[in-house]
Amino acid sequence: MADEHMADAAQPAIGHAAIDADDFRQVMRRVATPVAVVTSVCGDDRVGMTSTSVCFAAVDPPALLVPVKRSARAAAAIEDSRILAVNFLSEVQHGIARAFLAEGASTAVVFCEGSWSKGATGAPLLRHSVASFDCVVEDVLATGTHLIFVSRVIATSSDDAGALLYRDGFFRRLDENF
Ligand SMILES: Cc1cc2nc3c(=O)[nH]c(=O)nc-3n(C[C@H](O)[C@H](O)[C@H](O)COP(=O)(O)O)c2cc1C
Repeated sequence: MADEHMADAAQPAIGHAAIDADDFRQVMRRVATPVAVVTSVCGDDRVGMTSTSVCFAAVDPPALLVPVKRSARAAAAIEDSRILAVNFLSEVQHGIARAFLAEGASTAVVFCEGSWSKGATGAPLLRHSVASFDCVVEDVLATGTHLIFVSRVIATSSDDAGALLYRDGFFRRLDENF
């Protein structure tokens, strides 16, 4: 009996009412997230995009999960190069977040925002970010609209700055402790 329950629980939700993608987006807007610019390379060119979905995956070896829309230029660049960097933005870097969320924006133009260096992997690292992680891609999981890059962290840097957050359609800063 217990095994039957386990088997039921492991089944995909076929037969359950699926929620609408717009409803899912609306609920996700309630969740406060850090804001990052995920970068990579495409040949000699740099690519980057604003992301609010990067999260911790493992401590040892250190890894992050980096979901990227299949249609974003960064997705193909990361799949090909197998490298990426995650740059979590500080509260004064909200202009960089805005530059890197514009679909189809010229990479030459957007990288004029902020000061960039090249990590050990070759991925662009943002100076004065709250935290930057230079990564090699270990695995790629495909789910619906997104590819999730399981990314091994090989180098980090950080700065003592306030974090930029995103919630309900606005960039925000943390300003209270409890
Ligand atoms: C607040 C915000 C958060 C976003 N987070 C993600 C994300 O986590 N993953 C993703 O693939 N795209 C995310 N996007 C969209 C990308 O920033 C955007 O589609 C990308 O920069 C466009 O790249 P393209 O010019 O190559 O299409 C987000 C956009 C906004 C406005």
